[in-house]
Amino acid sequence: MEYIRSKDIYLLMRDVLKLINPTLMEHGSRVAYMVYKMLKEENKYEEFELADIVMVATMHDIGAYKTEKARINDMLQYETRDSMAHSIYGYLFFKYLSPVPDLAKIIMYHCRDYDKLKTVDYDYKEVAAYVNIAEKMDIYSNTMGTQFDSRMFQKQANTKLSAAGLERFYQCDAKYGLIEKVKSGDYKQELDEIAEYMIFNNEEKKQFLDMLIYCLGFVRESTVLDTVTTICICEEISARLFLPDNEREMIYYAALLHDLGMIAISKDVIMAPRKLRPEEIKHVRTHVAVTEEKISKKMDEEIVSIALAHHERGDGSGYPKRLTDQQISLQQGVLQVADVVSALVSKRSYREAYPKAQVLRYLNDEVSKKRLKRQPANVLSESYDEVMAHVKVETANILKMYQTLNAQYQQVVAKYKI
Ligand SMILES: [Fe+2]
Ligand SMILES: [Fe+2]
Ligand SMILES: [Fe+2]
Repeated sequence: MEYIRSKDIYLLMRDVLKLINPTLMEHGSRVAYMVYKMLKEENKYEEFELADIVMVATMHDIGAYKTEKARINDMLQYETRDSMAHSIYGYLFFKYLSPVPDLAKIIMYHCRDYDKLKTVDYDYKEVAAYVNIAEKMDIYSNTMGTQFDSRMFQKQANTKLSAAGLERFYQCDAKYGLIEKVKSGDYKQELDEIAEYMIFNNEEKKQFLDMLIYCLGFVRESTVLDTVTTICICEEISARLFLPDNEREMIYYAALLHDLGMIAISKDVIMAPRKLRPEEIKHVRTHVAVTEEKISKKMDEEIVSIALAHHERGDGSGYPKRLTDQQISLQQGVLQVADVVSALVSKRSYREAYPKAQVLRYLNDEVSKKRLKRQPANVLSESYDEVMAHVKVETANILKMYQTLNAQYQQVVAKYKI
């Protein structure tokens, strides 16, 4: 069964990153478009290979979400002057987390001067050189406005930029009006059409979606652990309820995506060390609508309906639809229980983590008020220690991955003396 089309994986990742920073993501899309046109003209790669390159080129600045938080819109600074940090982090991110690790060095080298890049042994170095040209064109045409003349880069041919790449760019610009198209936004439809050629298998799709959880971590690292905890509890409950594989998989994806909309909620409200005011509660509740906007029409409907019901309660007091017990499926109930428990067992800005006895009492209470479904709550209560032991292992693995990524980043930073 296909839960999401390859193209929609691309659109979803783009949408989520756009929510974190629209300027950076739009820059990525424009660069990807220009690189695509240049490579297409060159006729060296098959369409599906180009599609993978488009994916990477769109996310070439993904590292900046992490390393340039404080000055993320000051692209001129970190793209043209101190570019190493975001290039390296982005490279490691794609190398470890994406299903296309072979293309990760395109990100590593996307700001490298061509006279240094040309001596590197890497299959896609010319692609990296194209990304470099496209991004310079994009950044300078944006900052210089009518003063911009793409020919000004001619003097950097064979020093900072690839001469052949520049030639290719000028040729394509004359033929297709690249600069005009990216300025007017006319490129967007064409870019989305290219995504039709993306072909990822189920394992690759899963890897991209997992990578998406780490993207949420750019906003708040705690989201990554919260999400992994929820997924893990869902899996444990589903297995103990003997749900069929396809249902377990649907719950997995719903758990993965359910709180995606939280990145649109302001930090001050989430971190507030106090009870929230009514208007703040209203604001937090909009995260379900944001999630809906991002995943509906992309993910399988059943998955969407599980994800969007995670704050519904059987007594009709939940949101956004005030569903009642009969309208809530068992699968939705599994995620509800997992979401509640994952919140209770983690520390929040306004309270400590709940100990076991308190979690069990809470679950029991919710079941007796018919707010949570009995079956998933019961299997969880019955095997609480085992489930939590598993959660601990999973979250430790995630932390370890983070640490490896950060340690490698620090090593490379030290090596290049950034
Ligand atoms: Fe960059
Ligand atoms: Fe860039
Ligand atoms: Fe939520």
